[in-house]
Formats: sequence, C-alpha cells, structure tokens
Amino acid sequence: MGFRIEGKVALVTGGGRDIGRACCLELAANGADVVVNYHSSSESALETVAEIEALGRRAVAVRADVTKPDNILALKEAAVDFGAGRVDILVNNAGGIIRRALLADLDPELLAETLRLNFTSVVLLCQAIVPVMAEHGGGKVINISSVAGHNGGAPTTPHYGPAKAAVSNFARTLTKEFGGSNIQVNSVAPGIIDNRFHEDHTPPEMFEKLVSGVPLARAGTNEDVAGAVAFLASPNADYISGDVIHVNGGLYFGQ
Ligand SMILES: NC(=O)c1ccc[n+]([C@@H]2O[C@H](COP(=O)([O-])OP(=O)(O)OC[C@H]3O[C@@H](n4cnc5c(N)ncnc54)[C@H](OP(=O)(O)O)[C@@H]3O)[C@@H](O)[C@H]2O)c1
Repeated sequence: MGFRIEGKVALVTGGGRDIGRACCLELAANGADVVVNYHSSSESALETVAEIEALGRRAVAVRADVTKPDNILALKEAAVDFGAGRVDILVNNAGGIIRRALLADLDPELLAETLRLNFTSVVLLCQAIVPVMAEHGGGKVINISSVAGHNGGAPTTPHYGPAKAAVSNFARTLTKEFGGSNIQVNSVAPGIIDNRFHEDHTPPEMFEKLVSGVPLARAGTNEDVAGAVAFLASPNADYISGDVIHVNGGLYFGQ
C-alpha cells in the first residue's frame, strides 16, 4: 500500500496467476480498477476478480491470447469499455519459455512462438493502448522482462533471453516517441521467482542451484515483483522512463 493510483484503470496481461495475479492485487490494493487478462487460467482469473472486488475496487476478467493480433484488439476494446474510454496503466506480463532448448534443438517455430509471446505481443499491446493513454493525458507502461534478458539466461533459453532483452530495449524506444505525451515506459526484470514458471520448466535440482547463487539467500516471490510494478505505476515514478528495475535479490552480484 502507499502508491497513489486511486481510480486509475489498469490492464494486466496474464493476470490470472503468479506474477500477473500479484500485480493485479497490488495495483488494486493501491486503488486501481483492473482488467485481468488471462488465456488458460479462467478459474483463478475469476478468483482474482473476486479478491479485487473484496478490496472495494472494480475488476473484470477478459480472455485473450496475446499472440493473436485480433485477440489483442478485442482485449483493447474490452479494456476501454471497462475504463469508460481510459486505460491508465498497462502491465505486459504474459510470457514464458514455452520449453527449454539448446541451440541445436531450437527449431524455427519455437523461436517464432517465443518471440510472439514475449515480444511481439508487447509491441502490439502498446500499439493498441498507448494512443488511448495519449488521448487522456498520459499513462504508465510496465513490461515484465527478465534477468535472462540481461545476462543471457541459461544455455537452454537462447530463444527466451533475447526476446526479453528486446522488451527492455523497446521501452527505451517508446520513451523517445511518447515521453512528450506524459507516458512512462519501464521494465521490471525478475530473477528467480518461485512459481509455476519454474515448476513447469526447471528441474528441482537446477532450481536449488539457481537459488543458491542469490545473495539475498532465497527465491523471489510474486509479491516481490508486484511491489516494483506498483511503484512504477504510481506518480512516485513520474520522472523514470526507459529504465529497468531488477528484482533479483542481488543475483548480479552473486558468484
Ligand atoms: N518466474 C520467474 O522466475 C520469472 C523470471 C523472469 C521473468 N519472468 C516473467 O514473468 C512473467 C510472468 O510469468 P510467471 O513467473 O508469473 O510464470 P507463469 O505462472 O508461467 O505465468 C505465465 C503467464 O503468462 C500468461 N500467458 C502465457 N501465454 C499466454 C497467451 N498466449 N496469452 C495470454 N497470456 C498468456 C499465462 O496466462 P494463463 O495462465 O491464463 O494461460 C500466465 O498468466 C512472464 O513474462 C515471465 O517470462 C518470470
């Protein structure tokens, strides 16, 4: 609590579970009304909506596959309708590894699919929502990048780390075009967050090894990431744009 975003309208992609869900709840706890986008997590998206309403804010769950341009346009329409014309905060959270692959196993379709999910979706969502923000005096875009976008990730993520690097870089490009419209575009780069992302893609012994390199001596939580997102969504961050907040427990400074 404590960030002043009362009455702002937020759209969070992949808001039905883990980091996205924590972002929805943190933004609502700080006063925002929230459009909870989901793809497959319908049940937990509806639970998220109920939790937001219990906080006294408005919310709606909207299904959309962010890898599909027509779904993105429909999501925009639903969000603008919910916000009575406004969307003030866009959190581009949907993303993932899809599956691990060493370079020799990286087929063109996995590469294309990973870029569509982690990067193209961010570009198309910004294309849809940023003009709405500009019409209403400004807004905040927060992209969920990754430590992998900065340190190259694991040998098994040659498709994912570079896609996340593009996300952080894109925030800088948009800053140059839309800074004069009072739109701040930043990234949050999580490190090792203990959630389904690793349950799905990281064997337990690999996960333990990754966490053992974290100076703060624990994996991150979904809420650790959501706190940085709420800060960037607030007026406290009005003079920060094109930047990255690393939420990784000091991983950069480990061995
Ligand atoms: N966990 C980590 O350690 C870590 C570290 C660095 C960065 N990240 C990034 O953090 C973000 C959130 O991931 P997470 O950690 O919360 O893991 P997660 O539990 O795997 O969540 C992935 C999210 O992406 C959504 N999603 C996937 N494909 C989608 C599609 N085609 N259309 C719409 N939504 C889609 C999922 O929605 P549904 O469930 O509704 O399908 C889900 O909400 C991702 O961008 C990820 O790359 C995570």
